[in-house]
Amino acid sequence: MEKIVSLCKRRGFVLPSSEIYGGLGSSYDYAHYGVLLKNNVKGQWWRAMLQERDDVVALDSAIIQHPRTWEASGHLAGFTDPLVDCRTCKLRFRADLIDQAQCGRKPSKHPGETPDCDLTGARDFNLMFETTIGPVSEEGSTVYLRPETAQGIFLNFKSYLQFSRKKPPFGIAQIGKSFRNEITTGNFIFRMREFEQMEMEFFVPPDQAEMWFGHWLEQRMNWYTTLGLRPDHLRLRAHDQDELSHYSSATSDVEYLFPIGWSEVEGIANRGDFDLTMHAKFSGQKLEYVDTASGERYIPHVIEPAAGADRALLAFLVDAYDEDEIEGEVRTVLRLHPLIAPVKVAVLPLVRKDGQPELASEVYRDLRERFQTEYDEGGAIGRRYRRQDEIGTPWAVTIDHQSLEDRTVTLRDRDSLAQERIAIGELGEEIERRLRAPWRSPKLET
Ligand code: GAP
Repeated sequence: MEKIVSLCKRRGFVLPSSEIYGGLGSSYDYAHYGVLLKNNVKGQWWRAMLQERDDVVALDSAIIQHPRTWEASGHLAGFTDPLVDCRTCKLRFRADLIDQAQCGRKPSKHPGETPDCDLTGARDFNLMFETTIGPVSEEGSTVYLRPETAQGIFLNFKSYLQFSRKKPPFGIAQIGKSFRNEITTGNFIFRMREFEQMEMEFFVPPDQAEMWFGHWLEQRMNWYTTLGLRPDHLRLRAHDQDELSHYSSATSDVEYLFPIGWSEVEGIANRGDFDLTMHAKFSGQKLEYVDTASGERYIPHVIEPAAGADRALLAFLVDAYDEDEIEGEVRTVLRLHPLIAPVKVAVLPLVRKDGQPELASEVYRDLRERFQTEYDEGGAIGRRYRRQDEIGTPWAVTIDHQSLEDRTVTLRDRDSLAQERIAIGELGEEIERRLRAPWRSPKLET
């Protein structure tokens, strides 16, 4: 994980937030390449949900919702973690994770391990961030930053039935920020207080819930492996009965083998009719589906694949990170699936003279119409290749003296290091073809 964190900072993927003020615990800023990578991850999620299906529609709901939302959902009463304070070191710990926590005193121990530790009993700590709406804080003005995007979907279910021309089974998908005042943070962007979720609520006739639960388990696992995650680093883990959330009758987590061990990237839950029933009760609205032809009415059940954009991105980064040796030197390379790589192609004149930069600029202007492209003419060619390898650029186009004679260039492959000579006029089509080709992590061969 340290190598990933260091690469992310060095190359401008993810930076500690507010660094000039000493940083803010577990807050990170996405820098240029991180923004491009995350956009691609989210773009692929939207593609799988919307473009490749005709039974899911999109939503972007407000972050601050009516406070009754969180009463109905159960978050106000139950979205808590058991909190333990240490009166000596003043740190706070999650009671259920205390054996994984580090005590604030040196040499570092687990809280409670030394006679100096003075731990309080566990008390419930609500994870929702509270704020007030309007200029004056008075009774009734308390609102919350959403701790999940899902509830915005339930609040809009009725409107979607009216305008979207969909009927169960159908889904509503959204991507957006969620906020949780986590007690235990850390492990880089794995657990933050502000993070992005990619959630979809799939509304189904009650007797089809089990079938659709199975469908979504399979779909979501395929999404990760199609985008290159090594199957032996990915697994589905069904929750035990005592692990299930209050709303769920079955949940399975998609887990990735991070350097910190197997950890959740996405949860897929059968939420039954809990949410629509509760919002119907609290709002006084009828949240049910009525079949106009047969007169049949029912409250749909909900299957929810809920993924974290940051955790998915971290899994892709960890899975892609590799080191090999070229001409006696260690090369760091991100073997990202080309579809999610931040930059698809780099255009590099071999030397900064003899008309090469001019021709390279022409190729660059042409390619950037179709792909996220970078132009780089500074420094030794080997150093420029290394830089592109580190940010995961799958292809580099090199313009050399021959290019000026016959308008051909070399196309270098990040993983195989093969260099093919190709006509400038065919570059766009060739890169497009490679981008759409099935892809498998080269790390699987080793
Ligand atoms: N609507 C259901 C729900 O929110 P969850 O398992 O609490 O379920 C879904 O969250 C996903 O959101 C998780 O699998 C994880 O990827 C991501 N996530 C949750 N808390 C997070 C945090 N503190 N930091 C980063 N990602 C988080």
